Amino acid sequence: MNKIAAIAVLCLISLPAAMWAASSASLPKSYHSWQKSVRKVVIDKSSLFYGIHYIYADKKAMNGYKAGNRFAEGSSIIIEQFNIKEGSGSPAEGSRNMVVLMRKDKRMKATGGWLFAGFGADGAPSGLDPVSICFGCHQKDSAQKDYVISTINDFNK
Ligand code: HEC
Repeated sequence: MNKIAAIAVLCLISLPAAMWAASSASLPKSYHSWQKSVRKVVIDKSSLFYGIHYIYADKKAMNGYKAGNRFAEGSSIIIEQFNIKEGSGSPAEGSRNMVVLMRKDKRMKATGGWLFAGFGADGAPSGLDPVSICFGCHQKDSAQKDYVISTINDFNK
């Protein structure tokens, strides 16, 4: 095989892998059919989670919560966050303001074996750095719980 042909073959092999890596951080479309948590209202305006949010967990992630936060490869968890509608008596959901995703992926060594990804209200990647922004907090709060802060108690069993 000459050099050019060898390079062409290498490109064909590596291209699908590269595309997969890039697409792996897109938002799963079906998460509204996953197990949904109780409604979580945070009224402390200084909190990152000021607003109303729900956690969604797929089947593998639910098994992980049930096992006391020990998650199998591929487990996926999403938080969908809404603004609080101003002027209403009890806190009511306003518009969606962000979505965050964690998916267990052993290739993500710098972030505890989890893929962390943040998305804006429109579902497009928000570009927040998973290592310095996301993982720092999760490592501090839940290193003993496989970096997942919520627990089975956040779901109606
Ligand atoms: C200021 C600290 C902080 C930062 C920064 C942070 N998180 Fe979290 N995250 C939390 C807390 C606290 C919870 C638990 C919320 C609850 O129990 O309702 C949480 C929960 C989650 C969950 C649900 C699973 C779990 O661990 O309970 C996901 C998914 C998530 N965060 C993803 C992300 C992503 C992606 C980023 C970066 C874009 C990020 N987080 C940045 C504090 C943080």
